[in-house]
Amino acid sequence: MPKVIAITSEKGGVGKSTLAVHLTGALIERGLDAALIDEDGRVGSSLRWARRREEGLGFPVLDADEVKPKKLAALDAVLIDTEGRPRRKDLRALAERADLILIPSGPTMLELEATRELLDFFEDEGAARRVRVVLTRVPPTGQAGEQAREDLRDDGWTVCNTALRSYTVYQKAAELGALCRDVRDPRAEQAWDDVLRLSREVL
Ligand SMILES: Nc1ncnc2c1ncn2[C@@H]1O[C@H](COP(=O)(O)OP(=O)(O)OP(=O)(O)O)[C@@H](O)[C@H]1O
Ligand SMILES: [Mg+2]
Repeated sequence: MPKVIAITSEKGGVGKSTLAVHLTGALIERGLDAALIDEDGRVGSSLRWARRREEGLGFPVLDADEVKPKKLAALDAVLIDTEGRPRRKDLRALAERADLILIPSGPTMLELEATRELLDFFEDEGAARRVRVVLTRVPPTGQAGEQAREDLRDDGWTVCNTALRSYTVYQKAAELGALCRDVRDPRAEQAWDDVLRLSREVL
């Protein structure tokens, strides 16, 4: 059975779809079989990202309504992109389904506060051990990322070693319906390197 990796957050616009699309792309580049399920469907979702170019992203991005579980059974990984601030009921269902729950979070105080709320929720649900924070949109210079990681770890939460740094190439990739790897941008390589390293932490 595939490893089910859900990506969710308490706040909207933190970088869920960006993480979901790129992580799936990195697994594919590494020769694994993976698909992405979009449970959001609004503007800016991974489904719309994948539809922006005729050739798509190079892996299946499925509408939650069109998923055929049998077809997913042979995959190595199934990633799930969710809407921002899902209802508690949906989060509970997600926690039951997922082998791993990734919570992308910027390193600012407000974002970390929202992330901690969600971490508390998953802990109350008995799912804390399956949850990891992925720091994202981290300024490439300065200590904000490291500080956030240290603070969260001091409180006992699991944080991925690799953070996604903040680069405009991700936005360009979304606009083009591509992965940052395939965008002509001076930071494309650095960004993709973050993604690949992160992918090795999750599978
Ligand atoms: N590492 C990053 N560096 C710079 N910009 C980023 C990064 N990750 C995401 N972004 C930008 O932040 C914005 C929000 O990202 P994204 O759409 O992935 O968030 P989301 O959590 O899926 O939002 P929503 O809750 O609306 O679904 C986009 O403009 C995206 O390009
Ligand atoms: Mg999204």
